[in-house]
Amino acid sequence: MIDTSANLERFNSLAADWDDNPRRAGIARAVAAAMVTALPLASGMRALEYGCGTGLVSVLLADRLAHVVAADIAPNMLRVLEDKCRRSGLAHIETRRLDLTTDPPPAERFDLIFTSMTLHHIENVAAVLEALAGLLKPGGWLALADLDSEDGSFHGPNIPGVAHHGFERPWLMDVLRKLGLANVDALTADTVHKVGADGTARDYTIFLITAQRAV
Ligand SMILES: C[S@@+](CC[C@H](N)C(=O)[O-])C[C@H]1O[C@@H](n2cnc3c(N)ncnc32)[C@H](O)[C@@H]1O
Repeated sequence: MIDTSANLERFNSLAADWDDNPRRAGIARAVAAAMVTALPLASGMRALEYGCGTGLVSVLLADRLAHVVAADIAPNMLRVLEDKCRRSGLAHIETRRLDLTTDPPPAERFDLIFTSMTLHHIENVAAVLEALAGLLKPGGWLALADLDSEDGSFHGPNIPGVAHHGFERPWLMDVLRKLGLANVDALTADTVHKVGADGTARDYTIFLITAQRAV
């Protein structure tokens, strides 16, 4: 059972150096590029990034969007993002502490909701996806980026807060369809070459699944 405190503690402690890891920056670039390809992003869109961390993906997409609510459980991650926004004049990224496994969903509705490399840290993914789908405006888009199913070597055995060793795309896509979303599609956003905790190098693929709420 994954409780939020394991992730809260771990990601708060990683926040200051989070952006220094080139692999994380590379994944964010690939996910943002895949979203630009797969989705009809438009300058009037109001977006929510759920599990934004230091906002690597939000910052890359911000120029294409009207407003981004960047939400996470870890205040230290959000503080790093706030500093970046201040330095870069990104006044239309608004940070927010939000844990949809315990908090009530916000009142506003979004044209675009995206999440990158966060779902595998959440035990009850179906419940969070239901909450996210409920936050979409009619015609709004949901974009989920995460690891395809892997053998657990991506994080290794001693990392707290890992609830899933990636996901089977058909399972996630089925959850979205059952929530009433349409145009459910998937592509491979990135392939990450990483030496696992056991010292063996492997390729890990990262999907982008997109879906739309009916108009
Ligand atoms: C692997 S990091 C990814 C961060 C960012 N999306 C990126 O690509 O760099 C996972 C993030 O999910 C956040 N997180 C974990 N559990 C969460 C939850 N229940 N609700 C919201 N965010 C959560 C963590 O604090 C962390 O910032």
